[in-house]
Amino acid sequence: MQGKDFDIRISHTHRIRFTRDTFAIDSRLLIDLLETNGHAKLLVFIDSGVADEFPDLKTRIGAYLDRMPGFHSKGVIIQTGGESCKRNANTLQAAWDAIEEAGIDRHSYILCIGGGAYLDAIGFAAATAHRGIRFVRFPTTCLSQDDSGVGVKNGINAYGKKNFLGTFAVPYAVVNDFTFLHGQPETERRAGLVEAVKVALVKDAAFFHWIEDNAEGLSKLRTHTLEEAVERSALLHASHIAYGGDAFETGNSRPLDFGHWAAHKMEQLTDFALSHADAVGVGVALDTVYSWKTGRLDEASAMRILKVLKILKLEIWHPALEHKTAHGKRAVFLGLEEFREHLGGELTVLLLKEIGKGEDVHTMDTNLLEECINWLESSHASTPIVN
Ligand SMILES: NC(=O)c1ccc[n+]([C@@H]2O[C@H](COP(=O)([O-])OP(=O)(O)OC[C@H]3O[C@@H](n4cnc5c(N)ncnc54)[C@H](O)[C@@H]3O)[C@@H](O)[C@H]2O)c1
Ligand SMILES: [Zn+2]
Repeated sequence: MQGKDFDIRISHTHRIRFTRDTFAIDSRLLIDLLETNGHAKLLVFIDSGVADEFPDLKTRIGAYLDRMPGFHSKGVIIQTGGESCKRNANTLQAAWDAIEEAGIDRHSYILCIGGGAYLDAIGFAAATAHRGIRFVRFPTTCLSQDDSGVGVKNGINAYGKKNFLGTFAVPYAVVNDFTFLHGQPETERRAGLVEAVKVALVKDAAFFHWIEDNAEGLSKLRTHTLEEAVERSALLHASHIAYGGDAFETGNSRPLDFGHWAAHKMEQLTDFALSHADAVGVGVALDTVYSWKTGRLDEASAMRILKVLKILKLEIWHPALEHKTAHGKRAVFLGLEEFREHLGGELTVLLLKEIGKGEDVHTMDTNLLEECINWLESSHASTPIVN
């Protein structure tokens, strides 16, 4: 018998909003954004770092939700955020417990306000309870607003590996509320701009030139400059996901992971004392220098990139690069195999051909990487960053 084949496309809507002060009593953003059948419940999760920074937030949210017609507020839960919430299943379990206890169903919503790590953990809980509850992300750090918050992934760490457990799930909406962004400590807010630099390097030369022209303003965290960088970066990330042809990462190529093979390994080698943003700064520097030393990228472009990192006070070298395995090998190189395993398939690392344009490669020469790390170490030693 002749078979019948059907390839049916399923589409998603990725709602992204940029705003301020979502929970002001006269704000209509959530009322306009969320649909209700008259019985939709709302359960809010807040990262404790945000709750500490905005002590009246819980009360304001409570007052706001109580005035939303057609919705029933099921309260606000505050949990510890940061990488520690991804390192064991306690946060996840507590979130499932709360979802079950509040009777949250598939017409209800979970609102999650926090940094990238907390959004990852609660996003995983939301994606798995009832096979997926409508999830509204409120990223509160620079890195989560300019990158991870607009993505479609969640997860926690397991077996000593980052994001080993998790899912791809398009959130119901992402609300980038700049009020939260400006509460993040300055050093971390500035470091989070590394993902904007990264996406500019792989996707948009004009954006990189804009970052160069505005680097001092960005370094000083000038409100409008910072917000413009965050918005442009978020939209570049989201556009890549939506239109890059591989929203759920089934292929090998991962341009948005430029500099990340070393970054993820360094985070793990430091037991996550090194933040994702700072690790990506070093990883981007390493793959930039490697792109230059392999003759892909011209020296002047490489120097321009390193200069921007420096103005943003991002280190280009870290002692974690020197860690050795029991066999005397540089431990960071194990990151290449782990990167391959995490992505599946063939090792694929993006290098730069020019600013704004990358090229996938499938092998990395560890002798040359050694040379690049040594180059970065001496450059770092000769021009230290002054905070
Ligand atoms: N899902 C994805 O696609 C994706 C992509 C990139 C990164 N990530 C993940 O994101 C995480 C890093 O996220 P991050 O850089 O946002 O940091 P983070 O979530 O680790 O937060 C850092 C600290 O800042 C606090 N904090 C958060 N917002 C604050 C605010 N507005 N004011 C004061 N304190 C605040 C948190 O409580 C935490 O202590 C990593 O786990 C990384 O793996 C996920
Ligand atoms: Zn990243």
